[in-house]
Amino acid sequence: MEQLTFFDLANHFGLEEEQIISSPKNISNNLLNNISCGDCLKLLRNLPNESVDLIVSSPPYNIGKVENDRKPIESYLNWQKNILAECHRTLKSKGSIFWQVGTYVDNNKYHIPLDIRFFPILESLGMIPRNRIVWIRPHGVHAKLKFSGRYETILWFTKTMNYNFFLDPIKVPQKYSNKKYWKGEKKGELSCDPLGKNPGDIWAFRNVRHNHEEDTVHPAQFPEDLVRRIILCTTVPGDIVLDPFMGVGTTAVVAKRLNRFYCGAEINEEYVSIANQRISCQPDSNLNFPNLKTLREYAKKKGVNDVSTYKFTRQRKGSIPSLKSRAFPEEHHNREIIKRIEFEADNSIDNIFDMLIKE
Ligand SMILES: C[S@@+](CC[C@H](N)C(=O)[O-])C[C@H]1O[C@@H](n2cnc3c(N)ncnc32)[C@H](O)[C@@H]1O
Repeated sequence: MEQLTFFDLANHFGLEEEQIISSPKNISNNLLNNISCGDCLKLLRNLPNESVDLIVSSPPYNIGKVENDRKPIESYLNWQKNILAECHRTLKSKGSIFWQVGTYVDNNKYHIPLDIRFFPILESLGMIPRNRIVWIRPHGVHAKLKFSGRYETILWFTKTMNYNFFLDPIKVPQKYSNKKYWKGEKKGELSCDPLGKNPGDIWAFRNVRHNHEEDTVHPAQFPEDLVRRIILCTTVPGDIVLDPFMGVGTTAVVAKRLNRFYCGAEINEEYVSIANQRISCQPDSNLNFPNLKTLREYAKKKGVNDVSTYKFTRQRKGSIPSLKSRAFPEEHHNREIIKRIEFEADNSIDNIFDMLIKE
């Protein structure tokens, strides 16, 4: 279902090609399909009111991982409020903001789940909450004095009650897709939606590290499939997607692939350059690729089988790249997450039985 083409979607939403292409005209051309290298507030102030259809971003969590990432919590939140006020101003009336955050830990090891603090900020701007999405991730630091953190959150807010939400392109398969009514007027008809079901508000995507083929030098990049789901359910081809904290450009890569326009900022020059390599699917002048996924896509497009003349800026640094390297796409990691949850669930039940027998 996610294979729908540009024109299938246009028909589906009753849009003519011309309407789609003409929608973004109120943003100056040099900001469209471009990542501005610099402070996002500067970019945001250059965007007209009600000019973007979707804002999806993951700001620095204030934990010292990336630039601008170790302010006292109140000044961090004030800074973020100014950015979100600008985002609200630039968002079209049917538009959405997806703000992805984790946990802030201060110097005394005091933990604050940031979504709790962002929720009232978004409400105070007049935005309307839709979902608090829990993004579960099976890997991370093993804590000794608390439960290990294994989820982050994505706050979804809309500007008005009349907002875009397209469920069909993001439905996930039903467990029993052929189930039929066995009595009553509808007897014999399918009892569930053959297109699939709503994916719900608990999302499982691997964090992009180590053996994930999308992994670059960035310590906190989005998985592409997470952004894909958000873009597909809130925009149509030709719409504009803004990410004020682009990092290595995941939002831009996915927006471009789905025929949306992108626009955004990133303060770190190296990340902007990596983002541009990912978007153009080209190596840099030293034949470095930012990640295995970009190399695989490039090799497929160019029909290259031997990639040993290329290098990676990160994955298996120093080793000769191979298209068969053990770094996997998101589908693989997703299956592993489910297997792991089932394994832990099954084994915890055994443990409980063992304990009961011993008692
Ligand atoms: C959590 S990361 C975003 C990663 C991104 N989602 C991706 O997939 O690559 C936050 C990014 O914000 C950037 N940043 C920090 N302060 C900024 C500012 N004032 N303006 C623009 N970017 C900034 C950091 O350099 C970092 O790359």
